[in-house]
Amino acid sequence: MSTTMNGGQQSVDAGMVNGYLPTVNGESRWEEQFLPIPLRIDDKIRAQKIEARLSKLVLCGATLRQVTDVFESEIEAGLRQKPSSLQMENTYVPELTDGTEEGSFLALDLGGTKFRVLLLELKAGKVMRDMVKLYEISEKLRLGPGEELFDFLAECVQDFVCSEGIENGKFSLGFTFSFPMRQHSISSGELITWTKSFNCSGMEGVDVAALLQRFLTARGLDITVRVLLNDTTGTLIAGAYLDRSVGIGVILGTGSNGCYMERACRVLHWERSHELVEDVCIDIEWGAFGDNGCLDFLRTEFDDEVDSKSLLVNSFTFEKYIGGKYLGDLVSSALGVLARDGLFPAEPAFGYLQTAHVSMFEKENCSSEVSGTLQALRDATGGCSALSNQDALVAQHVAHLISNRAAQLVSVCVATLVRRMGRARVAVAVDGSVFKHHPRIAPLMDKYVALLAPGRPFTVLGAEDGSGKGSALAAAVAARLAAS
Ligand code: GLC
Repeated sequence: MSTTMNGGQQSVDAGMVNGYLPTVNGESRWEEQFLPIPLRIDDKIRAQKIEARLSKLVLCGATLRQVTDVFESEIEAGLRQKPSSLQMENTYVPELTDGTEEGSFLALDLGGTKFRVLLLELKAGKVMRDMVKLYEISEKLRLGPGEELFDFLAECVQDFVCSEGIENGKFSLGFTFSFPMRQHSISSGELITWTKSFNCSGMEGVDVAALLQRFLTARGLDITVRVLLNDTTGTLIAGAYLDRSVGIGVILGTGSNGCYMERACRVLHWERSHELVEDVCIDIEWGAFGDNGCLDFLRTEFDDEVDSKSLLVNSFTFEKYIGGKYLGDLVSSALGVLARDGLFPAEPAFGYLQTAHVSMFEKENCSSEVSGTLQALRDATGGCSALSNQDALVAQHVAHLISNRAAQLVSVCVATLVRRMGRARVAVAVDGSVFKHHPRIAPLMDKYVALLAPGRPFTVLGAEDGSGKGSALAAAVAARLAAS
């Protein structure tokens, strides 16, 4: 777990602009703090041309306020079940761990190419032992018939319990299924649409918990699917286990999304009685933010190219600005445009540069190195011999602009939630490969959330493996509630 604190030092003062930042030296100082690091290469004219060509990737404070306003109104519309690009799904997760949970619980975590099976042993609410096994989900399974995928998931569970020697045990299971769902209860929900790298047939509208239960039972396993949740909810629950002030869960990995504890009375969609529920976790599904066109003012030609070459075109607009699945493609697209304008020696092959490259470019940029960047560019361009150290600096700058934009956009969402919740202090649990491995995203998020939610103390807490652990913890809570 890693923790950073922020926001607590700033007081709300008379200098606030539209309720945003108390400005010390005026609005222009505030604006300046959103600017990325400038491109520093020897040829100043080339640097200016490149900066001009990429200027749409630079979001100023005023634009971020505009995104904030749109995000707030989409949240309200979504909660009221009015047309909105935000699903604002009721997860039916009302309470978090209370420290009395006992027993062994299984969890499954499906969302990326690696599928995880976990076993958590709890004593008096404390995790005494956790076992995790990873299984690769082939492209054939990710794009084939849904029933084959779910049969494979059950096969993995069987393999896991056999390898642990617990195949004859009776278990409650939490299923983290990180795709948009229409939830009917804490343990049932239908897939709305696939995202990221999945597109299995015959699954839309299918209750994924019931389908998993069917395949587990068919294998003779005495396992009950008690909870169905999204990875953000899992992260929130795992974070709350570490720090009770956690009220927001964020995933910044292959995809991106967030959830938060909302007052139950503000939520319209209920399929269960909820008189005793004070707060409930809402899965925002912010990956789809802007799918109705409300964010078109942000869109660049690079975003158009990445979208048109993605598996699911015209969907998950916001996720394509910030998700790890797309950051490498965005860098390729921008370098391709520069190359066509004669500002870069060669176009990288689209799809070659991954988010790990973007993180590496940024790491080298932080330590004034270029060797890894140059090698990656040579590999991506089929060995272009004209590439120089100066070109590596240009590629690092492109990676920085795209990373800075991603950090700003995710910070707009987090800051909006921090402000909306209005608590004395709120902790934000974050998990995901981009958050963990990118050298600048976490510090930039601290900076930008503080700028966008002034006077609102918050803590960002890295909740490693939160999505899976949270699922097992949720299964424990559900088992406790079922027994009471
Ligand atoms: C996608 C999914 C969402 C998930 C996110 C992060 O956006 O739709 O449910 O939380 O990826 O994995």
